[in-house]
Amino acid sequence: MRKLILAIILLAIGAIVLSACGGGGGAAGPGDVARGKALYNKSTLGKKSTEGCVTCHKYDESEGKAEKAPYTKGTGTRAATRVPGMSAEEYLKESLFKPDAYVVENYNKGDMYQKWSEDLSPQEIADLIAYLLSEK
Ligand code: HEC
Repeated sequence: MRKLILAIILLAIGAIVLSACGGGGGAAGPGDVARGKALYNKSTLGKKSTEGCVTCHKYDESEGKAEKAPYTKGTGTRAATRVPGMSAEEYLKESLFKPDAYVVENYNKGDMYQKWSEDLSPQEIADLIAYLLSEK
């Protein structure tokens, strides 16, 4: 019985450690919508000053056609239904870490910048995801 309890405690600790890392390495606090929005709207982003999200992603039709990337508006809602069995949060994480795992219709593999997971900190990624989740 003791062993069982110990095993459950160890599993719980493991789960906490894993979720804190979020796959990005290093610990990140909870995502912040306002910080994420500010990051998303910067013209350059990350360690290498790569062109930021909004250089490709327009907010909605009022800014013109979605030629380079899907509109930002509605991303949180679409994220929940893109891949069966994947939550909106999981999908958004995958979109940043492995953009080619699921490629949105009418776009091509490699269109989205592939190295955000290297250029951004785990906290920045958490903030961006929090912001996109709020864009229903
Ligand atoms: C070089 C252009 C480009 C940049 C810069 C870019 N994206 Fe994208 N993004 C795309 C394209 C093209 C797609 C659609 C193809 C795909 O699914 O990979 C996409 C898809 C996405 C999706 C999935 C959208 C959906 O409707 O399913 C998310 C989320 C996303 N990008 C977030 C971001 C964030 C956050 C940033 C900034 C850190 C960013 N993108 C920067 C081009 C870009």
